[in-house]
Amino acid sequence: MRKVCVMEGDGIGKEVIPEALKVLKELGDFEIIKGDVGLECLKKYGTALPDETIEKAKEADVILFGAITSPKPNEVKNYKSPIITLRRMFDLYANVRPINNFGVGELIGRLNNYEFLKVKDVDLVIIRENTEGLYVGREKILEDDIAISERIITRKGSERIIRFAFEYAKRNNRKKVSCIHKANVLRVSDGLFLKIFNEIKEKYNNIKADDFLVDSTAMNLIKYPEKFDVIVTTNLFGDILSDEASVLIGGLGLAPSANIGGKKALFEPVHGSAPDIAGKGIANPMASILSVAMLFDYMGEKEKGDIIREAVKQCIINKKTTPDLGGNLKTVEVGDEIVRYIRKR
Ligand code: NAI
Ligand code: MG
Repeated sequence: MRKVCVMEGDGIGKEVIPEALKVLKELGDFEIIKGDVGLECLKKYGTALPDETIEKAKEADVILFGAITSPKPNEVKNYKSPIITLRRMFDLYANVRPINNFGVGELIGRLNNYEFLKVKDVDLVIIRENTEGLYVGREKILEDDIAISERIITRKGSERIIRFAFEYAKRNNRKKVSCIHKANVLRVSDGLFLKIFNEIKEKYNNIKADDFLVDSTAMNLIKYPEKFDVIVTTNLFGDILSDEASVLIGGLGLAPSANIGGKKALFEPVHGSAPDIAGKGIANPMASILSVAMLFDYMGEKEKGDIIREAVKQCIINKKTTPDLGGNLKTVEVGDEIVRYIRKR
């Protein structure tokens, strides 16, 4: 039987993942192996990612990850983020973040008392390079007051993420891939990334291709989200643009993600452990449930992924939502509603 390693983590990770598991079990047969991870785990066992959890992850076909709380600076010596360790360990080079409001254009999200825009239909996907760029961790202090970070862009890393983006577009009937960069200033590193994009796009005649600078893209994502379809970009730009884009769909409660490598994949909501609402039973489980839909897509069962996305859409249309999307249901009730829509279809 196929194996899923499940890591709930901290805070609302413990609340939203059980809802995601309800949906996973409703539609698929998997052996589920649970692994400890995160800050609570660190306090209990002295490590945020125990070897036992790593062994379970190795054994599994896929990983479902909730969210973890990071320790405060200087609270833990030599702390390494478990999620970054897992991405590196399994070479999960493609971070896929769909941004979709399911046609619910009137949606208004609330986050920390900020209300989000009323938006038009949004349906785009950000594909972020997950292993190199500015996040390779090569930082040092030169003399006393100069800090240096190295930004690594390789042909191998760029080719595989750009090809991944075009193949993703082909598989999912998407019309266009946009390369986002800063090659006017980072002429060498992003120059290479853009050059490789221009080489690879020639091999995909049926998919349009264009490229934009990252700063103007930050503005245009908000002004004209409908102009984007698939975005492919380097690590830091992808990290920032995907959090920005989540605002378009009513916040983090609707933002799922996949981290995909050659042999394994990890699925997780984009959000963190949300200590401000943890324990209240009001966290939105949809981001985790939509991550399960991506897990089915990855397993070659896109029809099941589509069933889940349709059930989430029905919940939103019928206002069966948690407070972040304007509703008054609890986390568990939203999970139950989604299962109910799945059964009703
Ligand atoms: P966060 O994503 O946990 O929360 C940001 C805001 O969004 C909060 O107001 C929260 O209540 C709200 N929110 C997030 N998810 C929600 C959901 N499902 N339903 C309703 N509202 C939701 O980010 P924050 O507060 O910056 O970080 C909290 C902790 O999480 C930190 O320790 C941080 O390091 C960690 N973190 C972990 C991540 C991971 O595990 N992959 C990713 C991001 C942050
Ligand atoms: Mg981020």
